[in-house]
Amino acid sequence: MHFDLQLNGRRALVTGGTKGVGAAVVKALHDAGVRVVTTAREVPQKRIPDVHYIAADVATAKGCTTVAEEVFQHLGGVDMVINVVGGSTAPGGGFAKLDDDVWQRELDLNLMSAVRIDRALLPSMIEQGSGVTVHVTSIQRELPLPESTTAYAAAKAALSTYSKSLSKEVTPKGVRVVRVSPGWVETEAAVALAERLAESAGTDYQGGKQIVMNALGGIPLGRPTKPAEVADLIAFLVSPRAGAITGTEFVIDGGTIPTV
Ligand SMILES: NC(=O)c1ccc[n+]([C@@H]2O[C@H](COP(=O)([O-])OP(=O)(O)OC[C@H]3O[C@@H](n4cnc5c(N)ncnc54)[C@H](OP(=O)(O)O)[C@@H]3O)[C@@H](O)[C@H]2O)c1
Repeated sequence: MHFDLQLNGRRALVTGGTKGVGAAVVKALHDAGVRVVTTAREVPQKRIPDVHYIAADVATAKGCTTVAEEVFQHLGGVDMVINVVGGSTAPGGGFAKLDDDVWQRELDLNLMSAVRIDRALLPSMIEQGSGVTVHVTSIQRELPLPESTTAYAAAKAALSTYSKSLSKEVTPKGVRVVRVSPGWVETEAAVALAERLAESAGTDYQGGKQIVMNALGGIPLGRPTKPAEVADLIAFLVSPRAGAITGTEFVIDGGTIPTV
């Protein structure tokens, strides 16, 4: 029997939808018949026809306002918000290298982007009595790595706590709130990182990937997660099929987290 996600004709905003996980989410939702608006700082040359791209920096309050306004203009409302934007640009070298500017940048990108986008769009979902918002966090929120990503991990932990609190408030009003927590995902940036590591260690791409996996304490599955696998999970979670799922977190990490 065909497993229909029942997403046809619904309206979605996906933040950070031109690369990596976000691009895979845009494709999965578009393939499922969703009307998708997405955002990145730069709109790429290669676009999916029918998907509406907005150039805006969602690490700023102004950028989030721009995105929310365009969502209402283009879709007339929204049924699902998938907050994918995030990442880290912090330097290596441990806590002493993380000055206030770095901390603020990590918090603005990984926490405040979702807080601001939700604050602008959730009232319309509450008014219509239905909707879902997804927060893409990271296994680093419970398995932090101290070399350069302490601030990133702390921002993701804050995002998860914010998400849980929000779910308690808005679920009774018809809006589901869900977290998705990936382990290492084989995005374009991850491929480039493994290639760089391979080159400096004098090994091949598989060897480069192994260096990253070893740094994580190993991945029982033996490989990173594919962006499309994260996107498939999110497509299910935003669908009516997942109508009873709210206030909880889904880890997708090939078994990386070593504890129960
Ligand atoms: N990759 C992993 O291994 C991994 C693991 C765990 C969790 N995650 C989480 O998964 C999410 C996606 O990560 P990813 O690795 O797939 O990302 P990615 O490949 O680095 O892509 C990031 C996307 O977000 C956009 N973007 C970045 N900064 C932005 C900003 N300030 N305003 C608007 N758009 C912005 C980028 O386009 P522009 O550059 O044009 O802005 C791009 O479309 C993030 O929340 C990340 O923390 C990733």
